[in-house]
Amino acid sequence: VALKRSAAGTQGANISRQRRFWNERAQSWDHGAADNPGLVRVVERVIAEAAPMPGMTVVDLGCGSGQLALRVAPLVERVIGVDISKAMIDLLMKNAQTAGITNIEGVAIALEHLKIEPSSVDLVISNYVLHHLRDRDKAAAVAASARWLKPGGRLVIGDMMFGRGTNARDREIISSKVTLMLKKGPAGWWRIAKNASRYLLRFQERPVAISAWVEMFKAAGLHEVVAIPVVNEASVVRGTRPSGQTVITTLQD
Ligand SMILES: C[S@@+](CC[C@H](N)C(=O)[O-])C[C@H]1O[C@@H](n2cnc3c(N)ncnc32)[C@H](O)[C@@H]1O
Repeated sequence: VALKRSAAGTQGANISRQRRFWNERAQSWDHGAADNPGLVRVVERVIAEAAPMPGMTVVDLGCGSGQLALRVAPLVERVIGVDISKAMIDLLMKNAQTAGITNIEGVAIALEHLKIEPSSVDLVISNYVLHHLRDRDKAAAVAASARWLKPGGRLVIGDMMFGRGTNARDREIISSKVTLMLKKGPAGWWRIAKNASRYLLRFQERPVAISAWVEMFKAAGLHEVVAIPVVNEASVVRGTRPSGQTVITTLQD
């Protein structure tokens, strides 16, 4: 059992689980995302904080079927959408074609394996993705993003951001999630049980508190780090690579 447990916590095991899960869920995510008002607000806030401009090269980490990428592409030169799920990338490219957008490239790869030329992009953006990574892989993704940015470039991450109940905000978020599900009757009780295993055992969802994100940004050498709570469970954190300085990180990826 101990061996099985530790294997489940490896990077390779998490990547396989996420790929399987999201390949199965790609269609329903694509259909449902626009009708989720919370998610839409976070997308809007990520875009506002990123301030996309003509000429920019943008990387969207965990782009899904294009909730950020399709919005940003008309405003910039080039968007590279990266996602672990080939099914999501196929939907991204189909959605881009339908919208007549030709400046998005889709790459099906786990973020943990992504390699990008240092100092080559203006913006790294991401929405509702990094809580699926193990904590050390979240930190590595932030550190890698800081290196990919040109001086003055921004990293903007929107995600569910709360810990496991050690402070008042966490407890408020968890209790409002539980109250909402309780109101749904037996179907909601089932969801509570399912979510308890997802969040508490940290199998599928591994959110961390806003303060942990701010620390990761600072450890990656980013400046002007700002955290913005957006909706109940979700926040946006933004940071800028200092101009004219080499980013020295203390984290390994
Ligand atoms: C909740 S969806 C969000 C999709 C999109 N960003 C949005 O705003 O709707 C999470 C996405 O993260 C992707 N994902 C999960 N783990 C990943 C990983 N390790 N590397 C790359 N993508 C990952 C999934 O395939 C999925 O498309």
